Amino acid sequence: MCTMQSWTCLFLILCSMQSVCHCCDWIQHHFGHLSAEYLSQLEQMGGDITKQNAPVLFPTSLYRHIYDAEFEDKVRFLNETIYQIIKLFDGNRNRNRKSVTWDKKNLDDFLNILDRQFENLSSCVSPVVKPEKRLKRYFRNLNRKVLRKMNYSAEAWELIRKETKRHLQRLDILVGQMY
Ligand SMILES: *[C@@H]1O[C@H](CO)[C@@H](O)[C@H](O)[C@H]1NC(C)=O
Ligand SMILES: *[C@@H]1O[C@H](CO)[C@@H](O)[C@H](O)[C@H]1NC(C)=O
Ligand SMILES: *[C@@H]1O[C@H](CO)[C@@H](O)[C@H](O)[C@H]1NC(C)=O
Repeated sequence: MCTMQSWTCLFLILCSMQSVCHCCDWIQHHFGHLSAEYLSQLEQMGGDITKQNAPVLFPTSLYRHIYDAEFEDKVRFLNETIYQIIKLFDGNRNRNRKSVTWDKKNLDDFLNILDRQFENLSSCVSPVVKPEKRLKRYFRNLNRKVLRKMNYSAEAWELIRKETKRHLQRLDILVGQMY
């Protein structure tokens, strides 16, 4: 690729690095703060995290895979996972509040901060043409096999809260490993 004069080449490489990574700094300096904030809201909005397990297998292999991926793919994975969590909560907003007795302010703060994280991430890198299907399938199953099947009960929402916490903690570890 670098058959041009080396300065031109270096210049082009630097330019492309910049456009690829215009919020690398943002992630490094802010992701962790927002992450700590929404995890704390999630913790505080209800009682202890349930000891029950969701009838949907946690996508451990996806996380194992993403630890070895390129920086940009990691950012896309952060973006998509957070997007799916927001969708799960927002898409069921009206069924959300009836059964479960979470503190409303903590819940709203949780979602607002998560939104901020998402908005910052979503413009970080260019989106990929072929998004990760397994992640989407997993979240669809949470919606179907937990929320819908358990009639949006408090028990179902507590399982969602538990899975959400697990993801958000994993994402935090992933970002820690990126720098
Ligand atoms: C990005 O995150 C910062 C907090 O670090 C927040 O103040 C800002 O509103 C966010 N940007 C967007 C577009 O949400
Ligand atoms: C972030 O997720 C949203 C929703 O899936 C998508 O529209 C956007 O292109 C994604 N951004 C990146 C950088 O992957
Ligand atoms: C959910 O509700 C339907 C009827 O509305 C009922 O037949 C079913 O047993 C309920 N399922 C659970 C898990 O409570």
